[in-house]
Order: sequence, then structure tokens, then C-alpha cells
Amino acid sequence: MLEKFSKEILAFIQKETGVSIAPTNIEHTPNLEMGDYAVGCFELSKKLKKNPAETARDLAQKFSSPLFEKAQAQGPYLNFFVKKDLYQCEILKDVLNQKERYGTKNIGQGKKVVLEYSSPNIAKPFHVGHFRATNLGNALKNTYQALGYQTVSINYLGDWGTQFGKLITAYKKWGDPQQLKKDPIPYLTSLYVKFHEEVKTDTTLEDAARAWFQKCEAQDPEALSLWKQFKDLSLQEFQKLYSQLNITLDEVSGESQYNDQIQKTIDTLKAKGLTQKSEGALIVDLEKDKLPPALLLKTDGASLYLTRDIAALLDRYERLAFDQKIYVVGIPQTLHFKQLFKIMERMEKTWAKSCHHVAFGTIRLKDQAMSTRMGTAILLEDVLSKAKAKIAKIIQSKNPNLKNQTETAKRVALGALIFADFGSKRMKDVTFDWDIILNPEGDTGPYVHYTYARAASILRKVKQGEIFNPSTYNTLASPEEQALFRILERYPNTLEGVAGDFEPFYLSSYLIELSKAFNRFYHHHRVLQAEMTFQKSRILLTQATKQVLENGLRLLGVLPVSEL
Ligand code: ARG
Repeated sequence: MLEKFSKEILAFIQKETGVSIAPTNIEHTPNLEMGDYAVGCFELSKKLKKNPAETARDLAQKFSSPLFEKAQAQGPYLNFFVKKDLYQCEILKDVLNQKERYGTKNIGQGKKVVLEYSSPNIAKPFHVGHFRATNLGNALKNTYQALGYQTVSINYLGDWGTQFGKLITAYKKWGDPQQLKKDPIPYLTSLYVKFHEEVKTDTTLEDAARAWFQKCEAQDPEALSLWKQFKDLSLQEFQKLYSQLNITLDEVSGESQYNDQIQKTIDTLKAKGLTQKSEGALIVDLEKDKLPPALLLKTDGASLYLTRDIAALLDRYERLAFDQKIYVVGIPQTLHFKQLFKIMERMEKTWAKSCHHVAFGTIRLKDQAMSTRMGTAILLEDVLSKAKAKIAKIIQSKNPNLKNQTETAKRVALGALIFADFGSKRMKDVTFDWDIILNPEGDTGPYVHYTYARAASILRKVKQGEIFNPSTYNTLASPEEQALFRILERYPNTLEGVAGDFEPFYLSSYLIELSKAFNRFYHHHRVLQAEMTFQKSRILLTQATKQVLENGLRLLGVLPVSEL
């Protein structure tokens, strides 16, 4: 909502009725024939002891303002019609003056959000689930920053646990250093698979694995050096992916880092009287909260995933004193996070309620054939290279002389995958169907990329960018143009929605809507060949659209391309 206009509405209502309503009571009307802004008079009428329609009628009659043409009652709603020239100038001024800062706010000033996301497991492939977590976390981080929050992003590697005992056992028995160096993650995965095959007939392997993990936990040099080798090699592989995705996280930590804080954590829990023994294991009984018991230590004394998460969370609050803590992790771990947060509550951490599990559904591939180089996991690497190859083909057929084809294909392919990821609210499962997600005419990343490139290409033909000057501005009155302005206006609010509900989907669908509105405008109106009166205004509108598309794409982790 444009503040200049909404303030005027609020002040009018305050003056006429003595009631001060919240800005959130002002909405956009469903369509432009009904005006621009609407206020439902339900609450207001209660306070005034009249019926809503009567309230709306009375107020409409009294309304007059230099910013508005008129107000009109429609049933219980009071609809406001802005003066189009002022409204359009206000939006153009905001977008074109603030440029890449358009949409940013300072509502988060002085507040810190700590986001944990990506968090792949070492010695295992980076699969599309981790990709989804990475995209969600990255888009949320960017959005929080745009809203003025300070952010800290953490990559919490799965680098500890009994599985490393198995891996070391397998490597010592069957491992080959050459193969390990050559293709570390697939090789380690194959060793892990072999372990599970062999253990069916040789149960001594199970004991050997337990012993090796105990050695890890006791900091045995041989165990640790093998583990470290696996970890470093895995990290190098992940790093290659992150650089393809343009992702950086502030902290790389991992479960292993909390190994030496397990005892301290257990002691604190014990001191609070929260622990008890159960069949030789140490647990926190959460029955009162209708949750299954939380396992802290196994009978052999080994720590668990949850134990390490407790230590990590306590450490993060101590170090970072966050105002909000966000974990972007798939739906299957819902119970785990419920237990984690409940234990914080039991420890009387007042900040427990500021911790959120931002969960998400799984990704499936329609074309399963390509997915199974390693078991059932769908590898990001495979999906990325397939997307790039397919986009390169589309570019070849649509624009064979395009410069920078490799970089362009890379950006558009990544954009296609990110938009596919954000194609619905995060709790929904998504299916990657190549024919759908790469279609330049669908509700897709490529569609937004093409739209951006179209705007850029129009503007390249203008000798100099138009400088916005309200005194020479000519109002654009067609429905397509007005619709486009209204969408541009909504951008800042969209970002608040994303942060409030942890839903980058709001932004991706906004960008698709903006692209559609721009294409409709472009289809109906000439920009460069327009008569002089409108040419300037339409160029400015194109500049503003391009700017907002770019700002939004960047928040989602997508780089625009100016030619396609
Ligand atoms: N490494 C885990 C996995 O791949 C995700 C870690 C989530 N974060 C946490 N603090 N438990 O499933």
C-alpha cells in the first residue's frame, strides 16, 4: 500500500469517526472498476453503532482529498479512487529512485534472524531435498535482509553419528584411496551400501562399526583422520555445487562440532531434573506434552542427532542471541524439531517460542529414468546438468546467435529449477516435469527470464534511460497499464508476506503475475513507436517493471539475463 494514500484514508476516518483503524484494514479492491483501495466498514460500524452499509455511505459523502478523485460506497465497503497521475508518479518515483533498494524496509532493524539451511550429510550425495532447503533458506535470508533484519546463515553438516563407524569399517576392509580421491561421494556411498549388504551375513561388522564410532567420539587419531578425509573431500564437492548455485552461508558448522559439548549438555538437563533412564538409555520423557520420549544417549553411551541439536541450539543462542531461529528442514523431521523446541521450553528458555521449523515437502521427478545413479536419491548435480542442456537447446532453436550462451543457459536453467521449487507453498510436494518447468510460455522461471530480457531489449533501444519528472509525466489510463502499476505497488508488501509466513512462493508467483501483466501491456500498447505523449511514460513503466523483476529475482537467488 502506498503510504501517502493510506495515511490520507486513515486520517480521514479518524477525523470523521474518532476511530483509528489499522493500516491493514485498507485493501486493494478486487478490480479497477471498483476503485483502488477499499475499507470494509464492519468493525467501524460496530463502534459507531450503525450498520456497515450506512457507515460506508455516510463516509463516502463526506470524503474529499487532493489525492483522490472520490470515494464510493459499495455495500459495506468504502471504495477509494486515487488520482491516477499522482498514484502513478508516486510508484515511479519510488521504484526509479530507490532502484535496487525498492521494496526494502527497516522493520527488522535491530533484530537478528539466524537461519539454518542446506545442511547436507557428508559422504552422501547432495540431493534435491537439500536443494529445496538451500533455496528456501537463501530466499528467506535475502528477504529478511531486505526488510532490515540482521541475518546469520548456518550450514549444519551431517558429519557425525554411528554411520561414520560403518563407513570407516567398510573403508578399512575394502577401501581404495585412488577411487576415493577420484569420485569421493559416489565411492563413499558405494562403500556404505556394501557395508549394509555384507553385514547381513557377517554380524561382526556391526560391532566393528560401533567400536570405530566410539573411537571417533573418544578422539582416536586414526579414526579422526579417516573421518576428516571423508569430510574434506565431501565439502570440496559441495563447494562446487554451492558456487554453481551462487550460494554462500556465513557459518559452516556440523554435528561433529558439538561432540565435546554433549556431557555439558547432559549435565545441564540432569540438573534441571529433566532426564531419566529407560532400558539403559538416557531420555527426556515428553509424555505430558504428548510427544514420544526424546532419546539423548544410547545404551552404549553414544550421542544422538537430537542430543547434538540440543547442544547446537544452546550454543547458538549463547553466541548469537537471536530474535528468531529458523530451521529449514523437510517435513519428515517434524517430530524431531517438536522435541527439540519442547526440551528448550522445559529448560525454561524464554526464546524457545522464537524457534521455527520451516518444513517443506519432497521433490519428485516425473522423468525417473535419470534419477538413480545412486539408489533412489535424486542428485542435484544430475538435475542441474540436464536442465542446462535442455535450456541450451531451447536457446539454440529460439535465438541461435545469442551471445554468452553458456552463462545464459546456466542462469535460466537454475532459475527454472528454483521457480519449480517455489511453484507452490512449501509444504506441498513438487514434481519436476521438464516439459512444464522449462516451458518459456508457462508459469515458470524461463517465462520470467524472457520477460525481463524483453524489457531490457526495449530499453536498449532507447538512447538514454528516461529520467522521471512528475511535471512532464502523462498518465497512462488503459486497463493493462493500470493493472501493471497496481502490481508494482504490491511488491513491498509481498516481501513482508514472504518473511511472515516463510513462503518464497508468494514472491515467485508475484513475479509471474508481474511478468504476465507486463506482457499484456506490451502486447496491447506500443512503447517505442508510441505517440510522443505516451512514449515517455511507457518507457518509464518498462524501466520500473524491469527493476522490480530484477529485485525479486535476486531475492530468490536467480540472476537475470538481459538478452535471451
Ligand atoms: N543433515 C540433515 C539431513 O540431511 C539435516 C540437518 C537439519 N538440521 C538440524 N539442525 N537438525 O537430513
